[in-house]
Amino acid sequence: MSLSDQYILAIETSCDDTSVALVRQDGFVLGQLQASQDQRHQVFGGVVPEIASRAHTEVLMPLVDKLLQQNQIKLSDVAGLAVTSRPGLIGSLLVGVVSAKTLAQMTDLPLVSVNHLHGHIAAPLLWDQKTENPSLGGRAPKFPWLVLAVSGGHTSLYYVASHLDFKILGTTRDDAAGEAFDKFAKMAGLGFPGGAEVDKLARQGQPGIFKFTTVTLPDYAFSFSGIKSAAERALRESAFDIKLDLANLAASYQAVIVDSLLFQVEQAFSNLEVRSFMVTGGVSANTELRAKAEALSKQHKVPLFAPPLRYCTDNAAMIGLAGWWYWDTRFEQGQVVQVSASPANLEGDFTKWKH
Ligand code: KG4
Ligand code: ZN
Repeated sequence: MSLSDQYILAIETSCDDTSVALVRQDGFVLGQLQASQDQRHQVFGGVVPEIASRAHTEVLMPLVDKLLQQNQIKLSDVAGLAVTSRPGLIGSLLVGVVSAKTLAQMTDLPLVSVNHLHGHIAAPLLWDQKTENPSLGGRAPKFPWLVLAVSGGHTSLYYVASHLDFKILGTTRDDAAGEAFDKFAKMAGLGFPGGAEVDKLARQGQPGIFKFTTVTLPDYAFSFSGIKSAAERALRESAFDIKLDLANLAASYQAVIVDSLLFQVEQAFSNLEVRSFMVTGGVSANTELRAKAEALSKQHKVPLFAPPLRYCTDNAAMIGLAGWWYWDTRFEQGQVVQVSASPANLEGDFTKWKH
């Protein structure tokens, strides 16, 4: 088997999803298995870190075994290992990092640690048996890219000059966009995590019935706490009728979040030369964000890349592809770095490549 036909075994445990995947250098995902912890955290209305790390410990290694078995691949046959090392919940990250290090030491496989956000940036280029390779037929995204990464923990706009050359143009001053969706869902009794529920409910409502102001801060900055407080006030109004008004409120709330996100994208389109536009992270699963991002991409003639829905939220496949990028870059530069003995600061460390 040539190197390019081989797979990285990737592990993602940065928050509350345990995920493992086998990923090829061109972004093809041979298989991915996820264990969601949503039910365990639902009663608390948010992720409880201690519960999250314990749950990862229980399910991670059985998930790795199952993935290898299902795809008839032996651990010793994979090209290497990739694991998320930061940012995230420290206990959850440690479970993934220590497990990956143990596997690397047992097998002498090379290990690369990956920044979770680099994973989200890689996600739009993933594909599998159900989807086409987005880079096929000369459609590979051309640099520089403008990347809107929107998740439960992050909301940032990146200027990406090459695979591993990222500049943050702007970020949120308070809540992340996903957090804003989740907080609204909690206030409205829609369950956790709430983004997908708000999305569903918003389809039955009309945006603009509740008047919210689009956030237009300078320096590509985002802010959602004011919008959240406005929605909270609307919910508390004595005239608010949950049956009649909730879908309209959800639609208005979703629309102002999406418009505030895309306002900064428009600013970037006006100020910078970019040749590809990517929307990624859990919130990129949002129907309205996708539709409006698509319209903006057409208007500015900058092609849009957004991951298939299963690679929007946290997943190991994106960590595997970013892992390949780290490797490729190091090899281009002819560098070989030994794996660090400490779990801290692991990002970008490498064991020596097996020849
Ligand atoms: O990327 P992700 O899985 O985790 C983090 O890295 O944070 O993102 C999870 C976030 C949650 O806040 C969830 O409510 C949100 O993504 N989300 C959505 C949708 N699906 C997931 N938000 C809006 N619309 C959706 N359809
Ligand atoms: Zn994430």
